Amino acid sequence: TEFETFAGVLEKAQKKVNEASNELDKLVGVRTRQIQKQLKAINLDSLNNLYRISQINVAEEIDKNVLYNLPYTEKALLQKDSKDKIDSIGIDIIKNNQYAVVTMAGGQGTRLGHSGPKGTFMLDIKPKAKSLFEILADNLKRENEKYGIILNWYIMTSADNDIQTKEFFEQNSFFNYPINYIKFFKQGNMPLLNEEGKLVIGEDGSIKFASNGNGAIFKAMKENGILDDMSQKGIEWIFIGAVDNPILNMVDETLVGLTVFEKNKIGTKSLVKAYPEEKVGVFCRKNNKLNVIEYMELPKDVIYMTDENGELVFGESHIMCNLFNIKALEKIAEQELPYHSAHKKVNYLDENGKLIIAKEPNAYKFEQFIFDGFRYFNDITILRGKREEDFAPIKNKEGVDSPETAIELYNKLNVERR
Ligand code: UTP
Repeated sequence: TEFETFAGVLEKAQKKVNEASNELDKLVGVRTRQIQKQLKAINLDSLNNLYRISQINVAEEIDKNVLYNLPYTEKALLQKDSKDKIDSIGIDIIKNNQYAVVTMAGGQGTRLGHSGPKGTFMLDIKPKAKSLFEILADNLKRENEKYGIILNWYIMTSADNDIQTKEFFEQNSFFNYPINYIKFFKQGNMPLLNEEGKLVIGEDGSIKFASNGNGAIFKAMKENGILDDMSQKGIEWIFIGAVDNPILNMVDETLVGLTVFEKNKIGTKSLVKAYPEEKVGVFCRKNNKLNVIEYMELPKDVIYMTDENGELVFGESHIMCNLFNIKALEKIAEQELPYHSAHKKVNYLDENGKLIIAKEPNAYKFEQFIFDGFRYFNDITILRGKREEDFAPIKNKEGVDSPETAIELYNKLNVERR
């Protein structure tokens, strides 16, 4: 009876709280309260600081004297003996279930303009059209068969697309991938700022946020218990790749073997630039730290610099094909990676609540990049692959790196029968 009295009192109190809350909603308005809640979670000082940096850091060129290129191994040129030796190291790790795959699917895919998570984009490949998620699932299923294992597959989503992504997997019966081996986790986000450095109100009347870049993956894995989950499963090597490359080789025994053989904690697949001005980031050592530099930042004469074999000195490009030891992920998750700003087209509500559709870039988005995690290590294994076997990115609606170019590369490689 004492408990019943207590429950009664509690119920009454809860009712009063609800009534008061409804009153408050009426007075202040649901939206205003929602905005107040959002504001509490935003660190305005650091956001202001990012805005200030975004205003001064326009196309800053780097002093070429602090830049060094990095050694790499070209997969196609490995002697059979050494390749076999390296591969067998990788195969052991993969077969012993010490290997897992992570797909970064938290991006907004603004350039492609597909309404919905980028992984749900249908690619009209042969023999039948498939979504990017299905293509990746099929690629992994093939690897499972090859090695006689079931790979743990982790998928990073964001606030914008988490629910839709999970629904898409459910509607498609997880593409017949063993459900217990798939885990979703959500990355963080950051508020957008307009040209004057002010917060932006989105279509739904609340402060507009966007996913905070693929570099957010390290903290997201830690904070969502993914690193713990991997540890418990005895996973030591983790491949992290993009959702928008349908020919991505997510299980490359040579990359795993070589990284272990070279006693490194991080490894990566690279491609030589198609041409010096290609808009990709290249690997280098800058101020003694491992780094990836965007084309815009490279000093002009460095872009065209060639070695004695006529190869570009800074030619190894980053293609979102990265391997990490679990210890490396734990270490990076403790660091604060820098934010980079991007000028984007963002629709918003003006002071009168009218929806303004942006025709030109009008707001700043702040993102962390996965490659900024490399600087915490002395060395990285770089394995140069082949464009036609490794890289068919889907970035733009048409033209370069579009569905059309990706379909052609996919069909040519005929991944189904690789
Ligand atoms: P991009 O940086 O090319 O971004 O992503 P995007 O979302 O595909 O396209 P744009 O720039 O908006 O047009 C490279 C990979 O990183 C993931 C993407 O999903 C893609 O697999 N990514 C990007 C995230 O997981 N989270 C992010 O916040 C950003």
